[in-house]
Amino acid sequence: MKISPSLLAADFANLQASVAKIENTVEMLHLDVMDGNFVPNLSFGPNVIEALRPYSKLFFDVHLMIERPERYLEAFRKAGADGITIHYESTENPAEVLKTIKEMGASPAIAISPDTKPEVLFPLLPLCDMVLVMTVYPGFGGQKLIPACLEKATVLKNEIERQGLSVSVQADGGIGAANLADVLKAGINVVVAGSAVFGAEKPEEAVAAMRAVENSL
Ligand code: DX5
Ligand code: ZN
Repeated sequence: MKISPSLLAADFANLQASVAKIENTVEMLHLDVMDGNFVPNLSFGPNVIEALRPYSKLFFDVHLMIERPERYLEAFRKAGADGITIHYESTENPAEVLKTIKEMGASPAIAISPDTKPEVLFPLLPLCDMVLVMTVYPGFGGQKLIPACLEKATVLKNEIERQGLSVSVQADGGIGAANLADVLKAGINVVVAGSAVFGAEKPEEAVAAMRAVENSL
């Protein structure tokens, strides 16, 4: 399991200190970008990512919840994104956008919101390093995981195997140590956790609790 804590739940007045708390315990940092259009909320853009980049060696996992993300790929790559996740629902030609991300030297990934069927991603799997199954409606941290979404991750995991690919399956929204066993059993190997990690008094202990769940399976 790779853990990707979502910065959305961190203290926005102390982002550098928040990242430092988890720097040596996790594999990725999840950066949620919202445009007030694709989702009904605003978060931050490339300038915040660029400002944080010198302070972390973590893989920057940038989740773009923005309409027509093709307009901003270059900006996020330049800001320091290692992986860029676009939403299937946000663009007319996801295949082209995924190819562009790869050409830029970043790791391409594609997300589906709770109302989108996993099958739409089948033809795109060869173009991705990771698929993201949203387990809440995108836009806000701190929501409850929708259990039905986990079945979609299993459908994708099976299809990835059938196509003989090595594509990671990420889940995002409402995940913490309490429901992590179900998440992992569904075939997910990259876990986003916002409030469960940065909402905890000691984020490193929240991460340790998640590792303990994995080890108990
Ligand atoms: C939701 C974001 C998530 C969110 C996760 O739109 O994509 O990454 O911040 O936060 P929690 O873990 O609190 O649901
Ligand atoms: Zn996210």
